[in-house]
Amino acid sequence: MKTILITGATSGIGLAAARQLGAQGHHLILVGRNPEKLAATAEAVRAAGAGGVDTLECDMSSQAQVRRLAKTVQANYSRLDVLANNAGAFHMRRTETEDGVEATFAVNHLAGFLLTESLLDLLLHSSPARILFTSSVMHFGSRLDFDDLGLREGYSPQRAYGASKLANILYVRELSRRLEGTGVTANAFHPGAVATNIWDNAPVIVRPAMALLKRIFMITPEQGGETLTYLATDPLVVAVSGCYFQRNRVKTPGRAAQDDEAARRLQRACEELVGLS
Ligand SMILES: NC(=O)c1ccc[n+]([C@@H]2O[C@H](COP(=O)([O-])OP(=O)(O)OC[C@H]3O[C@@H](n4cnc5c(N)ncnc54)[C@H](OP(=O)(O)O)[C@@H]3O)[C@@H](O)[C@H]2O)c1
Repeated sequence: MKTILITGATSGIGLAAARQLGAQGHHLILVGRNPEKLAATAEAVRAAGAGGVDTLECDMSSQAQVRRLAKTVQANYSRLDVLANNAGAFHMRRTETEDGVEATFAVNHLAGFLLTESLLDLLLHSSPARILFTSSVMHFGSRLDFDDLGLREGYSPQRAYGASKLANILYVRELSRRLEGTGVTANAFHPGAVATNIWDNAPVIVRPAMALLKRIFMITPEQGGETLTYLATDPLVVAVSGCYFQRNRVKTPGRAAQDDEAARRLQRACEELVGLS
């Protein structure tokens, strides 16, 4: 039985994966920002057959809350086999968090960065262990502007989202280099185009088209959750690290996601943004 922490567990891909992992008998630590949704998720995961279910509240846009989450995990668990950084959002308008960070980057990347860095000792102690990031095909064609990571100039929701998902892949690349030989792996994946709540944030005018696309072309959250479940548990990928997956297969990510210098630069920039030395 593995101990598996999933952020963004209260909906969509995270919820489906939590149920699948629960059905395999694992111990799930479900992280969400909404207590009612967390309670309902815990009930569903318990009913699926989980070996244990705990819930932890955290708004991932707040660095203070992510730090508190990490401290709670360190204090209460002697091991962590899988850390799945899955929480994500699509922000139509540019907003900043309480820490002054652009919200898409803060939730989709920086929160997972801070949580991972804060739990590295526990993960190393639990080796073999796995770190996952739910990235996206939308990283293709994206780029990071290191002089303006928060997109003060030229914000668009797609640009911010794509850049945050590119950051996920660059980070697992750098992390896998740092963790080489430790038995702790780091990978990112695209779950497919999945019919989840993330699309409901679209402008009112395109919502009917979105609803149709969801029904006709997108896969279900259960199908979307399968890659997370596979990467979290399958023995075939226990030693695979620094990769980007689509449909349970390693795929070459976009050119910008293969840039080692950018990966190192991003590491330094994120350390600065969260105040790590
Ligand atoms: N759907 C797709 O086609 C697709 C494709 C590629 C990648 N992805 C990625 O897959 C991941 C899961 O998304 P999804 O499609 O399953 O969408 P979803 O159903 O909207 O789920 C997103 C999850 O993230 C949580 N979340 C968002 N902002 C948060 C915050 N500030 N603090 C804490 N939790 C927060 C949500 O919590 P609440 O339940 O409280 O809202 C929810 O549990 C995301 O990283 C997304 O970018 C999705």
